[in-house]
Amino acid sequence: MIESYEIKPYTQAGKIPANRINNLYPLEMVLPVVGMNEYFVKKILGRHECLTEDMVVELLEQDAFSETFVPRSMVLQYLRKKLLTSSQNTASLISELDRLYKGDAISLIDRLKDQSIQCVVTSTPYWAMRIYDEFFIREWADGETCAFGLEQTPEGFIRHSVETLYHLQRKLTPAGSLWWNIMDSYNTRTQIRNNASEALYAMQGHDKKTWKDHKYKRYSAGHSYLQDGEQCLIPQRIAERASRIGFYVKSMISWCKTASMPEPQQSRVSRNVEYILHLTVQRTPLFHKQAYLSLPADLGGKQDFESEKLSDFWHLPTSAGGNGHGAQFPLQLPGRCIALSTNEEDTVLDPFMGSGTTAMASVILNRHYIGFDISDKYIQLAARRIENSISNPQRKTE
Ligand SMILES: C[S@@+](CC[C@H](N)C(=O)[O-])C[C@H]1O[C@@H](n2cnc3c(N)ncnc32)[C@H](O)[C@@H]1O
Repeated sequence: MIESYEIKPYTQAGKIPANRINNLYPLEMVLPVVGMNEYFVKKILGRHECLTEDMVVELLEQDAFSETFVPRSMVLQYLRKKLLTSSQNTASLISELDRLYKGDAISLIDRLKDQSIQCVVTSTPYWAMRIYDEFFIREWADGETCAFGLEQTPEGFIRHSVETLYHLQRKLTPAGSLWWNIMDSYNTRTQIRNNASEALYAMQGHDKKTWKDHKYKRYSAGHSYLQDGEQCLIPQRIAERASRIGFYVKSMISWCKTASMPEPQQSRVSRNVEYILHLTVQRTPLFHKQAYLSLPADLGGKQDFESEKLSDFWHLPTSAGGNGHGAQFPLQLPGRCIALSTNEEDTVLDPFMGSGTTAMASVILNRHYIGFDISDKYIQLAARRIENSISNPQRKTE
């Protein structure tokens, strides 16, 4: 665990560089970083398989441009580097199923065979909410060097989420589905706690530390537009950018939790909702809508308070989290996603596996799993829970 960490909003000022290099960039390399589809680009530039730097700049100047995972001023720099490094990935392929791998998610995602994953169900670290025991400091495409979830701004976190989605995109089968569980954060001056029980302890007034004594904290002043106390709208902004890099945003599901943390703020309603983005690579993915009605409730079938119609409002429980992972989702969440979007024997990936809930649901539903996590402790915890769900037909999930 790091000694101390501070998040202080800082937005870099930047301009598109004036110099041009005589490079040609494949269209598929450019599209995700200008946030446009090939038909629109063809309308602007005519039909080209590769683009010059002047053409790329013409796209950056369009009203339709919107940032995805590289800020506008850094797109040329990103493409120059990408052109030099795109043929350098020599890491061995991950082919073994039903295994957990310790390491950084993006580095391991890149080692998966293209189009080999039918379904991804995952929950990344949320922005500026937790300090995990172990983390990986990555140099991201936007130039920020930090652990995922500990960016200096919500925009940094949104970019890094979308960069991760970009790496995952080509690993999905054409009929595959990606389910991305994410919660919003507020732009507030606050301490960052290690887990929910620490936060609860503090809310009950037991934490006597002063602001100065806290080792992990974030500030709100200095952001380019967000004011103190404002909701950042992170899930919605990730969804929009996922669409811009080529995903179909099939649904933005509200997960209405049966229990959530108390919130002391008196000037707004309390949060009770997290989101699950359902993203696909084609318009009509594999989708067993009826599975919702036949699946047992403890695996994500219809719950109390839910109707016969599977809607975009999911009333799922909150995990008790009593087994050593402070941010785990309930078995019902991956269970439902997997049953809806896979067949038996298909492969399910969770690149931020934590305590192994996605793998447990996969095992119970007779699907194969692959799981990644940066933490040894969580890999071991996940392995124990998976083993338990293989040998325990009663599905004790903790
Ligand atoms: C929100 S938790 C996932 C919890 C999981 N859904 C469960 O039910 O237990 C996020 C996980 O991401 C892991 N993590 C953080 N950074 C990572 C990285 N760069 N690569 C892989 N895993 C990472 C953390 O160790 C943590 O276990």
